Amino acid sequence: MIPFSATLDFRSGYLTPHEAALERRLSEMLGAYADAEAARRLIGDAGDPVIYRAFDAPVPEERGHLVYRTTIISPGRVGAEYFMTKGHHHELDSAEFYLGMAGTGLMVMQDRAGVLQVEKLTPDVTVYVPPGWAHRTVNIGDDNLVFLAVYPGDARHDYASIERDGFTARVLATDDGPEVVMAE
Ligand code: F6R
Ligand code: ZN
Repeated sequence: MIPFSATLDFRSGYLTPHEAALERRLSEMLGAYADAEAARRLIGDAGDPVIYRAFDAPVPEERGHLVYRTTIISPGRVGAEYFMTKGHHHELDSAEFYLGMAGTGLMVMQDRAGVLQVEKLTPDVTVYVPPGWAHRTVNIGDDNLVFLAVYPGDARHDYASIERDGFTARVLATDDGPEVVMAE
């Protein structure tokens, strides 16, 4: 392939050109949220809201390439739990680089032994996810959370292990603001 440039709108997260555009609705990630009843109610009341969107750069998912993607997480909650991504491991245990572009979020990360690390993701912050750390991004603000992720082309996503085992912590809204609580 030949070199190319793409335009990144930091406020909207829109990537031009982009190859694929992902739209993840609540009904597609019901198991991720602790409060199943609140999720069902929200789908009934809000017509299955879009939790997040993503735009992929037109880069081959092959060894040697660097794939990059923007994500836009809507503001909102399922019960007390903030809107968030599904979260995943990478099959090759490869590293990933995140750049906050707009909004306020938290990255919940855990290694394969269950060790937990939470980092804030805001427009002035980069987060490095080392190999072997699962990662999920949570929108704790009132506006869209927008960020860029860059990772090896052959990293491949493993969602199944997170769907099976879950994250050891959840981010919940409390009277004192967002709180990271250990999952039951
Ligand atoms: C890529 C990456 C992000 C996420 C995106 C959506 O490796 O970590 O670009 O893919 O934020 O989240 P998931 O993939 O967990 O649905
Ligand atoms: Zn990733």
